Amino acid sequence: MSYKKIIYTLPKPVIILFAILFIIPILSFKINKNKQQLPVYKNPKISIELRIADLIKRMTIEEKAGQLNQMNGGSLTGPGSSKTDRDAKTLMVKQGKVGSFLTVSGVQNTLYFQKVAVQQSRLGIPLLFAMDVIHGYRTIFPIPLAEACSWDLTGIEQNSAVSAKEASAAGIHWTFAPMCDISNDPRWGRVMEGAGEDPFLAGQISGARVKGFQGNFDNQHILACVKHYAGYGAVEAGREYNHVDMSRVTLWNKHLPSYKGAVDAGAATVMNGFNVFEGVPVSANKYLVTDILKNKWKFKGYLISDWASFEEMIAHGYAKDSIDATQKAINAGSMMDMKSEVVLKNLPNLVKNGKVSITLVNNAVSRILYYKFKLGLFDNPYKYCNTQREENDIFTPNNREIAKTAAQKSLVLLQNKNSVLPIKNLDKKIALIGYFADSHADMFDFWTFKGIPEEAVTIKEGLQKIYPNLKYATGYDQDTKSTQKLINEAVETAQQADVLVVNIGWSGKFAGEDRAFADINVPPAQVELLKALHQTGKPIVALISSGRPLILTNILDYCDAILQCWIPGTETGNAVAIVISGGYNPSAKTVISFPYSIGQIPVYYNHFNTSRPGLNNQGGAWESRYRDIPNAPLFPFGFGLSYTNFAYSNLQLIDTLLTTNKPLKLKVTVQNTGNYDGEEIVQLYINKKFSSIIRPVKELKAFKKIALKIGEQKTLEFTLTKKELSYLTAEGIPFLEPGIISIFVGTNSKDVLSKSFNYLGN
Ligand code: NOJ
Repeated sequence: MSYKKIIYTLPKPVIILFAILFIIPILSFKINKNKQQLPVYKNPKISIELRIADLIKRMTIEEKAGQLNQMNGGSLTGPGSSKTDRDAKTLMVKQGKVGSFLTVSGVQNTLYFQKVAVQQSRLGIPLLFAMDVIHGYRTIFPIPLAEACSWDLTGIEQNSAVSAKEASAAGIHWTFAPMCDISNDPRWGRVMEGAGEDPFLAGQISGARVKGFQGNFDNQHILACVKHYAGYGAVEAGREYNHVDMSRVTLWNKHLPSYKGAVDAGAATVMNGFNVFEGVPVSANKYLVTDILKNKWKFKGYLISDWASFEEMIAHGYAKDSIDATQKAINAGSMMDMKSEVVLKNLPNLVKNGKVSITLVNNAVSRILYYKFKLGLFDNPYKYCNTQREENDIFTPNNREIAKTAAQKSLVLLQNKNSVLPIKNLDKKIALIGYFADSHADMFDFWTFKGIPEEAVTIKEGLQKIYPNLKYATGYDQDTKSTQKLINEAVETAQQADVLVVNIGWSGKFAGEDRAFADINVPPAQVELLKALHQTGKPIVALISSGRPLILTNILDYCDAILQCWIPGTETGNAVAIVISGGYNPSAKTVISFPYSIGQIPVYYNHFNTSRPGLNNQGGAWESRYRDIPNAPLFPFGFGLSYTNFAYSNLQLIDTLLTTNKPLKLKVTVQNTGNYDGEEIVQLYINKKFSSIIRPVKELKAFKKIALKIGEQKTLEFTLTKKELSYLTAEGIPFLEPGIISIFVGTNSKDVLSKSFNYLGN
C-alpha cells in the first residue's frame, strides 16, 4: 500500500496533528531557507529600485562595464569587424562582459545567449537584444518618411506596434527607432528614416512611434530608441557622418522638438548622434546629454552610442585615445557603448584612478538594469523566447493588411492633369513600363534585414491582378540605363494601350544609411524614356519610387499624373493598384519639400524672411533670389492632391484675448466640392512678426485629418495656447512678445486662408 493510501485510512485528527508536528515545520523551514538564499535583486516581491540598489552593491566595476557594453553579434551595420565566433561571444557573456547584443535575433539564438547570461554568469543578469527594426520586422511597412506623409498618428502608432509584435516574437527587446532627425537635405540618404522637415509634426509622429513600439512594456512590445540625438539631420551638404554647425536657437527651435516629442512619449532609450554640436562630439557633449536631456527634460532612460561613436571621437580630433574617449563620453553622461568595447576595456581603470566617478557609472548601469527589470527579464528571462509566437505572430495576413493600409495612406499624388487618375475602368488597356515595377530585388531599402523581397508584391503583380489587359515593358535596366531597343519596345507596348503607367525613380537599395548622393535628379535615361512615350500622345501616369524627393522638374511636362510612391514595403503592388483604380482616394501630403533643382537645397517651408524677401518670397532685383530658378520648391511641404477637391472658407478668429490661461480659438470650414469621398489634412500655420529673435515665415502649429463625403462640409475648431504660439530662446526658454500674429489655414503650406490679430502681451 502506498503512503498516500495509508494516510487516507487514518482518522482526520491524527492527520491534522501529523501536519502540525511535521509537515508545516518542514515546509516553513524550506521557505525560510529559500528566502535567505534569494538575494534581494532576485526577489520579485521587492520594488525595482531596491532590487537595483542591491544588485549594484554586488557588482564589480568590471561587471558594471559589462552592462555598458553592447556587443555586435551579427551582420554589420557599420565599419569594423563583427565577432562571428560563437564560443568567443559565449565566453564573454559568461564573464559578465556583455549587457546587450546588437543584431542577434531569432528565438533559437536569443534563447541560447540568454541562458548563458542567466545560468552561467556570476550574477545571472539577463541580456537585452537590440536590432534596427526601422519600418517592420518581416512585414515591411512604408519607409518612415512615407508613413509620415499620412499624418495619421493612430495609424503610425499601430504600424510600430505591429513591428514590435513581430520583433518581440523573434526574441528582440529593443529597436533603434524612431529616427527623429530634422533634415532639409534630400541628398542625405537618411531622410527616408525620419518624419520630414517640420519640428512640430515630427515631434508628434516620433511620439506616436514610441508609443506603438513600447506599448505597456509587455512581451509583445519593444523598447524604442530616440536617435540621433541631437542635430544629426543637419549634416553639411547632406553627406553622411559629416560636420554639423548650428546656433542654439536653431537647435532648440528646429531640431530638439522632434526628439522631445519622443522623450515625452516615454522613450526608454536615446542614441548619441555621430555629429558634433558647438565643436564637441555629441557623445561627449555635456550640454546635450546631461544639461538638456537628463536635467532639463528629466529623461530617466539610458543612452547608447551610435555604433562606435565613443571611439570615433579619436578620428574627430577630440579624444587622444580610447581611454580618453571613454572618460569623455562617460563623464558627459553618455552610457552604453555599441560595438567598440572601449568602455569595457577602459572603464574599470578610469574608475580606479578616479578619472570617472563611480556614482556616474552606477547611475548609468542602474538605468539599464531598470529596463531589464521593467521588461520582467530578471523574473522571466525567456519571456521573449517563445517559438510558438515566433511561428504565429510574424508575417500574418492581418499584419500584411495593416501594412497595405499604411502604404495606401503614404502615396502622395503630386499631379493629376485632366483627372487621368483614377483609372476606374478595369478593362482599360494599361501599358506598364519600368524595370523596377517587376523587380523584387529593388523594392526594399537598407533597413529591412528580415524582410524577404520575394514576399513583397511588385507593382506589376499588384496591377496585373486588377487590370487583366496589362502589358509590360522594362524601358530601362537595373542600373536605370536604357538603349534604343528598350525604348522602342516600350513605345511599341505603349502604342497598343489606352493609358501608360511608367514606374521610374531609384532602386530601394539607394535609401538608408551611407547612401548620400550628390545627384538626385531623375536618371537621364528615364527622362528620355518619358519623352519618347509622351510622343505617343497617350496619357501618362508616372509612379516615382524613391526614398527621398528626387528632382522632378524635368518630367512634369511629360506626365499627366505623378504619384510619389516612395518605398511602400511588402504590400507595394497592392497599395499602388488600389490607389490607381480609385479603391482608395489619395490623402497623403508630403512632409518634405521637393526641390526645384539640386542647387536650391536646402529648401524648406519654414525658412526666414531675410532682410530682402521680395514678393511672395520669390525675390526680385536686389532681393534674396536665384537668377536662374525660383526660390520656391517644386512642391511645398504639406502638398498632396486628392481625386476630389476641398474648398476652405470662413476662417474666423473667435477669441484673440490670448493669456497664459486663455488660448486662442479659431474655426474654419472645409467642404468636399469634388466627385469622390475623400480625406483632407487641414493644416494650421502661424507667423509672428517683430520678435527679438526672428521667426520663420510659417510654422506648423496644428493639423486635423478629416473625412468628407461628396458635398459634405465640416467646421473645425482649433485652440492654441500661448506656449504653442511661443518661440524658444538660445537656452530653450519660451517667449512671446506683443505684436501681430498671423494665422494661416489651408490644404498645404502655400495655399492658405489667413487672418491676423494683435497680441497684446497679456
Ligand atoms: C548606425 C546608424 O547611424 C544607427 O542609426 C543604427 O541604429 C546603428 N548604426 C546600429 O545599426
